Amino acid sequence: MSNNIESHLVENRVFKPSKVFAKTAHISSLEEYQELYRKSVKSPERFWAQQAAETLVWRKKWKTVLAWNEPYAQWFAGGKLNASENCLDRHLTGARRNKAALIWEGEPGEKRTLTYQQLHREVCKFANVLKRHRIQKGDRVIIYMPMCPEAVIAMLACARIGAVHSVVFGGFSAEAIKDRINDSQARLVVTADGGYRRGGVIPLKRNVDEALKDNEQIEKVIVFRRAHNEISIKEGRDVWWHREMEYVKADCPAEELDAEHPLFILYTSGSTGKPKGILHTTAGYLLGTAATTKYVFDLREEDIYWCTADIGWITGHSYIVYGPLCNGATVLMYEGAPNWPEQDRFWRLIEEYGVTIFYTAPTAIRAFIRWGDEFPNRHDLSSLRVIGTVGEPINPEAWMWYYTVIGGSRCPIVDTWWQTETGMIMISPVPGATPLKPGTATLPFFGVDAAVVDDQGNEVPPNVGGKLVIRKPWPSMLRTIWGDKKRYRKQYWSEIKGMYFSGDGARRDKDGYFWIVGRIDDVLNVAGHRLGTSEIESALVSHPAVAEAAVVGRPDELKGQAVVAFVTLKQGEHPGPELGDRLRQHVAQAIGAIARPDDVRFAEGLPKTRSGKIMRRLLKEIAGGGQVIGDVTSLEDFNVLMRLRGETKEG
Ligand code: WTA
Repeated sequence: MSNNIESHLVENRVFKPSKVFAKTAHISSLEEYQELYRKSVKSPERFWAQQAAETLVWRKKWKTVLAWNEPYAQWFAGGKLNASENCLDRHLTGARRNKAALIWEGEPGEKRTLTYQQLHREVCKFANVLKRHRIQKGDRVIIYMPMCPEAVIAMLACARIGAVHSVVFGGFSAEAIKDRINDSQARLVVTADGGYRRGGVIPLKRNVDEALKDNEQIEKVIVFRRAHNEISIKEGRDVWWHREMEYVKADCPAEELDAEHPLFILYTSGSTGKPKGILHTTAGYLLGTAATTKYVFDLREEDIYWCTADIGWITGHSYIVYGPLCNGATVLMYEGAPNWPEQDRFWRLIEEYGVTIFYTAPTAIRAFIRWGDEFPNRHDLSSLRVIGTVGEPINPEAWMWYYTVIGGSRCPIVDTWWQTETGMIMISPVPGATPLKPGTATLPFFGVDAAVVDDQGNEVPPNVGGKLVIRKPWPSMLRTIWGDKKRYRKQYWSEIKGMYFSGDGARRDKDGYFWIVGRIDDVLNVAGHRLGTSEIESALVSHPAVAEAAVVGRPDELKGQAVVAFVTLKQGEHPGPELGDRLRQHVAQAIGAIARPDDVRFAEGLPKTRSGKIMRRLLKEIAGGGQVIGDVTSLEDFNVLMRLRGETKEG
């Protein structure tokens, strides 16, 4: 039996960059990309040093580009800079001073715009507020905020004084806040009274209060008034943001920080166990995010750039805050849900603000498809020129929908593969240069030595599946897991000698394009064939009745594992045994009999993490007929799980 992951799904559609797009793009042909890429991986240090000089503003130049002592990297050691200065002050000397940095819309419809000058002023003031409460360089600050400019202001204010922010996603519960406060040993929390979501108010402050029961460590809670919901104030501990801002001056010089000064900790839940505090540091992270924002989105001065992620995820950190602002971009930020008050809210925003770059997730795209074309079709989306996706493999049929219905068959799709740990986009098309194929993140970014290897670290031949690794350090890589060096080494640097292991399975096609086949832990073993989950799911989604699919294995005496597919249908489609059979047949045709699901189970919804990833681990437990015993704190909607369990009992 071979250990390699097999691949059977064939995708022949290719979309070449249009001449019009290529003409003005930063990288305008595949040859240009290839030439630059070849040079960049031959000598990554030279490449990154050149980028660092062009992209960032330094107080003091570095001495060494890279000091690598596996698994510990130091990039630009000896260099001094400040991330907030790079995102703000540098833009104040010319025309960008009066350019919109943030355009914000609240879910109820309020609008605010902050120019670079205004954002700078707010950040300086809030940095002074933090200082007034004795926050110093290196101290950790928890930020638990709705999607509003003050969340960005708080992050940049920390960066300005060298405090380390740890943003906790506003959808997380008190328990999650508590864990993160404890693990990071934070001294201060920045929050809001509440934030709007789907017409309701999320009681953020109340969650903080609960998290802080019996907590001695947090000295201050700064509360931004957003939703005007009633809250309780603990005398001596809790203070209002707006009051605090009255006491301080608007002048706050940025701290001169080491290139490797910690910038933030961001916790990822992982599929099991305790959340990991991923640590990113200043110069390398900023460089990676700024360079990728420029090239991957082909960013231009006049763009209106919108990334729909929450600020509490790495995508929000890298591609709402640090990457775009370092480039002096105009960023649109929206507080609420895509289906409030109606399912066309995103398209309305794109039309109203003339969004040119739009970056979202496959889970959202699949929801848009389920809701129907009428919603995007109501709006003029012709301002768009680049559209992107991140977070999961995008099924080819979802890609085609995104390309035609949202992108008007005109906009390149950048399918960007990366992770909280990588900090920046690692594998992605460069629009204007890379021919696109639906369902693949295509080729590595400059300076990124990505490969698909077997257990010994040897590259596997084309179209054979293996482990996705990065073979050389890159500037925005995580530096460690906060407080857990052992786990850092074990998780990322022990699986394959001398390489960073991503945890993902992938294959490369004959053009060298990377196809992510799913997490390695989810790979199925059916009668000695190792199958990734994403191809079977994509085959299911290519059936016109199917909106979303998740495939898992269940123990089977004969085959080792049987294939179980959980499927949700598009609006107006009806589940039943006959459709189940047709879907099984459909998969057999698209991929081969080996992948034909043994069971097809229809569900109203699939269990997802709060960032929209399908939790296959839970489905595996359900499919196996057992109890759900694993950690479910990151589950978005517990009812989905209850309903799925109910169905299993009957079926
Ligand atoms: C998955 C999100 C396929 C992958 C930035 C990765 C993707 C994990 C893609 C990281 C993509 C992300 N195609 N799979 N374009 N982007 N993934 O830490 O499994 O929330 O390892 O970072 O998401 O998720 P994280």
